[in-house]
Amino acid sequence: MKSIKDIDLKGKKVFIRVDFNVPIERGQILDDTRILKTIPTLEYALKAGAKVILCSHLGRPKGKRIPELSLKPVYEYLKKVLKVSVKFLEELEGEKAEKELENLREGEILLLENIRFYEGETKNDPELVKKLAPFAEVFINEAFPVSHRAHASVVGLAEIIKEKGVGFQTQKELNYLSKVVDTPEKPLFAVIGGSKISTKIEVLKNLLTKVDKLIIGGAMANTFLLAKNFSVGSSLVERDYLKLALEILDLAEDSGVKVYLPIDLVVKREEEIREVFLDEVKEEDQILDIGLETVKLFSSALEGAKTVVWNGPLGYFEEKPFDRGTCLIARKIATLSSITIAGGGDTLLAIKRAGVEHAFSFLSIAGGAFLEYLEGKELPGIAVLKK
Ligand code: 3PG
Repeated sequence: MKSIKDIDLKGKKVFIRVDFNVPIERGQILDDTRILKTIPTLEYALKAGAKVILCSHLGRPKGKRIPELSLKPVYEYLKKVLKVSVKFLEELEGEKAEKELENLREGEILLLENIRFYEGETKNDPELVKKLAPFAEVFINEAFPVSHRAHASVVGLAEIIKEKGVGFQTQKELNYLSKVVDTPEKPLFAVIGGSKISTKIEVLKNLLTKVDKLIIGGAMANTFLLAKNFSVGSSLVERDYLKLALEILDLAEDSGVKVYLPIDLVVKREEEIREVFLDEVKEEDQILDIGLETVKLFSSALEGAKTVVWNGPLGYFEEKPFDRGTCLIARKIATLSSITIAGGGDTLLAIKRAGVEHAFSFLSIAGGAFLEYLEGKELPGIAVLKK
């Protein structure tokens, strides 16, 4: 697979698939991390004399033109951040499109409107690929977070372009994630949280073949606890997954993986908040965080790691004081001298809230793609670049 550095960009129409799927409210970008992470690739391409065409999706408009999901706020943002000419194209076809493309000069940017305004995008429709083809002499994937989608602008277009490769951020994502999945420095420990076990089963199963320790928190730990016959009161739990939770614990034992579950919890009943041991959870209690004894247990379990991968908050971190467990574990991971990798929107938010984002080796900007990579799946948007 080539890097953007291996491709001659001079004077060429370089189609960079980016992921500018960022939170926008009333025209204001609330978190620009994903855009900022692509800037080095954009600057490199511009300096190398490329005519840069940027393509992204925003939200899930399902083939309809939804004004709130327009990329215009991103266009305004790019004009401010980059000191080059940036143009915006609403339609892929027609006189305006032809003119803009013809007039695009080296070192300039043309941003396309939300590609999911076209129904063909999510269907990987060859008709849409045909419409995109004039915009691409070179194809660059700088959209790791959407690389698990076999969509027209991610896979279909890349399939018909000979000169293709990855941008710097995609390259980094692949390098760090392969340090977990393919060539981990051992011991490798995983911290997995979040609300649902159902969305993480494949991740857990695959990780059990790689990790030495598995630390489980968040509401998904409730399902494991209930499966082990502990009361979880009126907490969020997935009753259909109790058997599977036990299977995962058995699988871990067979694979020699040590699993850590909470030993104490922060619970809420009406307005009363208590810290209780596992066997003290009452019927109306709602488990909302791990307790301090669990923080101690998890923290000492993390000692000695050479690699740590983390996805999913360990409690209901959106609401204080239930962010305590997640923040304390974030700070603990931040002190480790190992390779520390985290991913997922909520996890990143929690790490930022704990004020330790600079202490991690790598923070993935992906959510679904990060998980699918951890599941051991080959992402179609990456596989196509190897062809
Ligand atoms: C993401 O935010 O995870 C990516 O942009 C993919 O978005 P999607 O889940 O709507 O395909």
